[in-house]
Amino acid sequence: MSEDYKGPNRVFSGVQPSGSLHLGNYLGALKKFAKLQHEHDCVFCIVDLHAITVPQDPKLLADQTREIAAAYLAAGVDPKKAIVYAQSSVRAHTELAWYFNCVARTGWLNRMTQFKDKAGKNAESASVGLYTYPVLQAADILAFKGTHVPVGEDQKQHLELSRDIAQKFNNDFDAPNFFPLPEPLIKGPGAKVMSLRDGTKKMSKSDPSDASRINLTDTPDQIAKKIRKAKTDTGAVPATVEEMEGRPDIANLIGIYAALSERSEVDIMTEHGGGQFGPFKAALAEVAVETLRPVTELMNRYLAAPDELDAILKKAGDDAAEIADPIVADVRRIIGFRGA
Ligand code: TYM
Repeated sequence: MSEDYKGPNRVFSGVQPSGSLHLGNYLGALKKFAKLQHEHDCVFCIVDLHAITVPQDPKLLADQTREIAAAYLAAGVDPKKAIVYAQSSVRAHTELAWYFNCVARTGWLNRMTQFKDKAGKNAESASVGLYTYPVLQAADILAFKGTHVPVGEDQKQHLELSRDIAQKFNNDFDAPNFFPLPEPLIKGPGAKVMSLRDGTKKMSKSDPSDASRINLTDTPDQIAKKIRKAKTDTGAVPATVEEMEGRPDIANLIGIYAALSERSEVDIMTEHGGGQFGPFKAALAEVAVETLRPVTELMNRYLAAPDELDAILKKAGDDAAEIADPIVADVRRIIGFRGA
């Protein structure tokens, strides 16, 4: 954050309602959110506007949004402490995104690796929305003057872009320190959970292999089976950081174990180092099942009461708009629109 920014600290983050959530989303984002709400003002968004950058079934979108809301709450986010709302219910996002489209440079967007990954060889037929997606993400954060953004490692480049946009806006419109330069909160175990089938690829909802990820909706049997089948090598469980080097599949499992059990990787290696992968995986499966069971159960309980979820989202949408609308009104004045 700019050292001269005088506004209050505010945590902002978002999760897309597309496909089911996995262990990477839980460890890289949701679990951190629940901790942060005790220390900061927090605004957590279900980014349904981002979801429609690729086709979505209108009949399913509302359910998917409720599913993310349920996951936030099940992971421990308390709607009395933090704001949990749907992006599309707050108009400030789309309005500020347009202003930022005029601030961001095409050269900046051309460097975004996620667009290249997602659009693949079909960049010509990808939506314009998918291309400007990171600009909307900057608008999400800055519509709330978000100062701290807890995310997984894969969002680092988008956060750098948000900082560039904030800085260029402040400079171009001679509005020093109007927007903070948001700081990513990425550190800690779980910031980069990798595929169970390939430790060099991130765990992702778009991976065609369901065995590559643990979904928050998986049963204990499914979780145990996926961990049992997770890729390893013929060596033993490493006992030191040096022994783990160059073994991405193993490093991933140890990282997951550490993040789930809130212990250090060294601690895990001290306990299991030198042993076979069979017993190590059995211990990891037990930790994973026991940690995720209450989250999944709570999620299902919230999902069984969709009206309650809708009421929470509605009130939170109003609360979010109360923060964002005056900020975007200031932006309009700064840009020079009459009747702002
Ligand atoms: P999304 O929905 O893909 O992911 C939600 C969060 O989960 C994290 N994550 C991971 N963390 C560790 N290991 C993994 N394998 C893994 N996979 C996903 C993501 O880093 C993210 O924190 N563009 C964002 C959503 C967004 C947003 C924002 C985030 C929109 N506006 C503003 C922060 C601030 C996205 O698609 O996340």
